Amino acid sequence: MQALQARLQEAGIWDEKLESEVKALWKYGIERIGNEALRDAVASFLCFVPLKFFTDHASRSGRFHPHWQNERHGTLRSIIESCVLVPPMAQYVPQLLDADLKPDQGAIDIALAATIISDTWKKEDIGDVHHGSAHGRVAAMHWIKFAHAQKLDPEIADAVAIGSIWHYGVYTPGWNPEMEIPPIAWLVHLCDAFTAQPTLATIYENKTVIT
Ligand SMILES: [Fe+2]
Repeated sequence: MQALQARLQEAGIWDEKLESEVKALWKYGIERIGNEALRDAVASFLCFVPLKFFTDHASRSGRFHPHWQNERHGTLRSIIESCVLVPPMAQYVPQLLDADLKPDQGAIDIALAATIISDTWKKEDIGDVHHGSAHGRVAAMHWIKFAHAQKLDPEIADAVAIGSIWHYGVYTPGWNPEMEIPPIAWLVHLCDAFTAQPTLATIYENKTVIT
């Protein structure tokens, strides 16, 4: 975390709120990646992604995420919330379960890594460039270049890229009904889709009656 902290401090965007979000990203995301080489690669990758990943709101229009993700650091917050969900939700993807119905840790590692990188390139730091629904693919391209330079196992690196590319599920540009989304990417998508629901506020915000 120190290298990223130093980068964000140097950029002048480090404050108490960002510190707590980055700590949560480590606790629920990075540190739960069991594969050391993958864990280190994802942590290092974050030192090169656009700074807007750490500061921006999750939804440009404000229509597509719960309101607490449409504040400063909201994209990062949405990723942390997805990471919280990845291990428990893996239990509901049959292809990822072993004979004892336990999810495969290697698959969880890849899903966590894909979740973390998936939103890193929603926007570029220079100019008003927003990659729209292609952002998972843009992030995957940067990731693959980085992971290969780090000599990460190419099979693992590619699986992370695929998870990032398909994190929008059937809404990913290029999807068609004949296409089967790989199970790990499906897990990434489920967690992303769940945490992006604006309706979460209606369900969870201390309501005795839902109106
Ligand atoms: Fe995304």
